[in-house]
Amino acid sequence: MGKRILLIIGGGIAAFKSLDLIRRLRERGHDVVPVLTSAATEFVTPLSVSALAGQKVYQDLFDLNDESEMGHIELSRAADLVVVAPATADLMAKMAAGLANDLASTLLLATDKCVLIAPSMNVRMWEHAATQRNLATLEKDGILTCGPNEGDMACGEFGFGRMAEPMEIIGAIEAAVNDGPLKGKHILVTSGPTHEPIDPVRYIANRSSGAQGTAIARALLALGARVTFVTGPADVAAPVGVEVVAVQTAAQMLNAVQSLTDLDVGVFAAAVADWRMANASDQKIKKDGNGLPVLEFAENPDILATVCGSDNRPKLVVGFAAETQNVIENATAKRKRKGCDWIIANDVSPATGIMGGAENDVTLISATGAEDWPRMGKDQVAQKLAARIAEALS
Ligand code: C5P
Repeated sequence: MGKRILLIIGGGIAAFKSLDLIRRLRERGHDVVPVLTSAATEFVTPLSVSALAGQKVYQDLFDLNDESEMGHIELSRAADLVVVAPATADLMAKMAAGLANDLASTLLLATDKCVLIAPSMNVRMWEHAATQRNLATLEKDGILTCGPNEGDMACGEFGFGRMAEPMEIIGAIEAAVNDGPLKGKHILVTSGPTHEPIDPVRYIANRSSGAQGTAIARALLALGARVTFVTGPADVAAPVGVEVVAVQTAAQMLNAVQSLTDLDVGVFAAAVADWRMANASDQKIKKDGNGLPVLEFAENPDILATVCGSDNRPKLVVGFAAETQNVIENATAKRKRKGCDWIIANDVSPATGIMGGAENDVTLISATGAEDWPRMGKDQVAQKLAARIAEALS
């Protein structure tokens, strides 16, 4: 459902991206009430902002018209979320100090709503002790941040300071305003295959597309969860709004998963390679006439079992079992062996068309037995599972 976003545009070169942000927010059904600082008007014009927002632009604290229409206190509270993009070093400093000497800073001090900032500034300004101190203060005050990203900057330098892209900001906005039954829950979803290198150009992989894991992440997000999405090289794009950790190998996936310590739920949908090369080569293996290369395997760590046996075990852990024979029997044994609460079992024999396809035919196996779900779209399986997770946590 569309939300009302009070968007404060600060005076930075990234302000041009805020025009795209407004357009995309409106496309997704949100209302945008724009506020420009006086510095922002040097970068974007009030006319283009108001044309894109389809709304009046607020600029001046002492505009009597605005005070009679809607006072600054009301303006700051009528929104579902206050977003500052770009959040300049100056605006962050004002917020951290609690200054209220123009419309933007006054709204930020007066609001009783959640505030999300998308910082944008030169890398030196970002790394400066004063900005980092202000950031720490803002985080302690409960202000949410999105970015900045690392990259080339308009000033010709390279580093952290680029404003997050509009779709990343929208992801953070939607995560912040979503108030479904999983709000406040942090959920890990592993997804996709892993690639285990043979040499720098070749690897061992499997046919997982990442479609089911991606659908699950999206469904959890829609119920208000904060989702960390640890994904191998998948065919489908990660959903907007999840925190993506992209990995290649099982070892990297394990590292990424073990760095998360505050999880309420773990959903392990990744098709992790069981083996990696014990003798992966640093250089491309050549056809040098000395016979065929011998590939030696080593066993990969079992990420699901490791998490289940750890001190940081989430309250609810869901594993997957992709089988080609004796599906229920194998999956039931796997649930016990790995120590997870639920296993989603499916038959991935080529004839089922499930691996890489749009549908899935699963059985939910828990301590109380096996529950067969009818064949349905991967999105529907995801929604049913997300609803079950919400129910289990309630
Ligand atoms: O043993 P198998 O690969 O069939 O187990 C599948 C389940 O275990 C899935 O949930 C998968 O994500 C997880 N797994 C894992 N680490 C591995 C192998 C599988 O987390 N190395």
